[in-house]
Amino acid sequence: MIILKKLFITLFFLVCFHGQLIGATERKAAIASAHTLATYAGFEILQQGGNAFDAAVAVSAALAVVEPAGSGLGGGGFWLLHRASDGFETMIDGREKAPLAAHREMYLDKRGEVIKDLSINGALSAGIPGLPAALVHLSEQYGKLSLAQSLQPAIRYAQQGFVIGERHRKLLKFRLPVLMNNPQAASIFLDNNKVPNEKSVLQQTDLANTLKQLAQYGINGFYTGDVANKLINSVRKAGGIWTLQDLENYQIVERDPVIGEYNGIKITSAAPPSSGGIVLIEALNILSGYNLSKLDEITRKHIISEAMRRAYHDRAFYLGDSDFVDVPIYRLINQDYAAGLRTSIRLDKATPSDSLAGDVEQKSRGRNTTHFSIMDKEGNRVAATLSVNFPFGSAFVAEGTGVLLNDEMDDFVSKSGVMNGYGLVGGAANAIESGKRMLSSMTPTFIEDETRVAVLGTPGGSRIISMVLLAVLDFAEGEGPDYWLWTPRFHHQYIPDMIQYEEGGMTDEEILGLSRLGHKLKETLYRYGNMQAIQFNKKSKQLTVASDPRGEGLALVR
Ligand code: DON
Repeated sequence: MIILKKLFITLFFLVCFHGQLIGATERKAAIASAHTLATYAGFEILQQGGNAFDAAVAVSAALAVVEPAGSGLGGGGFWLLHRASDGFETMIDGREKAPLAAHREMYLDKRGEVIKDLSINGALSAGIPGLPAALVHLSEQYGKLSLAQSLQPAIRYAQQGFVIGERHRKLLKFRLPVLMNNPQAASIFLDNNKVPNEKSVLQQTDLANTLKQLAQYGINGFYTGDVANKLINSVRKAGGIWTLQDLENYQIVERDPVIGEYNGIKITSAAPPSSGGIVLIEALNILSGYNLSKLDEITRKHIISEAMRRAYHDRAFYLGDSDFVDVPIYRLINQDYAAGLRTSIRLDKATPSDSLAGDVEQKSRGRNTTHFSIMDKEGNRVAATLSVNFPFGSAFVAEGTGVLLNDEMDDFVSKSGVMNGYGLVGGAANAIESGKRMLSSMTPTFIEDETRVAVLGTPGGSRIISMVLLAVLDFAEGEGPDYWLWTPRFHHQYIPDMIQYEEGGMTDEEILGLSRLGHKLKETLYRYGNMQAIQFNKKSKQLTVASDPRGEGLALVR
């Protein structure tokens, strides 16, 4: 059955989508990103003598221009780095921070109820951006070229404009009423308050100027001076609470990645304030007690769902910004802890989520954010997942800057037990506090065994982690990037207590079998994720790359 399915996926891939994937080739450099122009920007910088870190600056900045729905200067992200010369690995945490004036009740009315959409739309929903500071740091600490050089392609795209794609138009439509509320955003992204026609050109002159300020003055070009003043004036005029001190105080943090091991495969992934690495490794630790490839498909999916259920349960309870709360990282990624959880899994029956300790609820959707993967000729690697949260963030552009602000404040818990925009709920560990970073699910990851090393990640809200998990399991079975990306996905996140699956992700037989075990199942309304992956074969020196067929990205080896 599994073999037949694999054959089907391979054929499906070859017949339908061969144009978008680039197969194995001799060792060169590889870039996979969510937009053709961002991938080209990265190669342009590599051709100028830059390394993977310079290319990461170029790709991040280009995405800020050509994929504004997903990430941008007004947002943040995590850049996982591997330096080939000495094996050094680190994660640049450029996650947004709550403004200093932020507090737990800021999205509640007088009766203590959450005011709908206040943490999602407009200036009050924006955290202090981290992306510009992260690019400066990445360039200065790890790059070979100047920041100004690496920002050039993005400046050019913003100045000259580019043709918008179908995905961009779809996401504009989704955020249309909110974008219309902000004259700056409407004048840049809309055409007389309507979604622009296909093949329209989007020019962003203000954004080009802001990028030039960053190129010329580095950190001061964004966090102090002219751009900073414009950001603060605009945000405060619209009811936001940012101050100049917030911008001046913002600092990226370099954090040790979270490391795990699954059947001889090394997993290197995102540390808090992302939940990604911990949830991923906890689930893999649980699964390492089974021989998944020997199980029938129903039992296999049952066990994987049970592992996801338990790891996501712990996400809701324990995880938050480790600079503010005590996150028990090493307990959660400990093999003995996983062994204990494994004993609670029954092969003949699903575990009801409400029988796990506590009653925190969460669910998710997700169509924005962005991920890119880079490996250069020397073997330097970057896996970066960047976000403004909702499509087009808060849909608020600060006047005269072209900078679209994030609405990442919604990743905090506005009120205990109340779901956020992605249906996520959490506890005190992720409560709003002045200067704290909101919990994320972004999971930029490296996976490595004796013969292969892979760089991957994806957007997709809380489903990010289960997507990366499924990719690791496929890697463990010897499959490559095309397979990880083309296989229909399934997901369990503790609450809602159900397995969600993409169209084609479950056979009728599996649905029946899993229902008999007590699982509730639901097909998702749309296919989710936009994974960008690279795999390097250490023996053959071949690079294989893939860009998710669900998106409009480009993966290239050159
Ligand atoms: O940091 C997070 O977990 C979210 N802000 C990511 C949102 C996301 O991936 C949306 N979707 N595709």
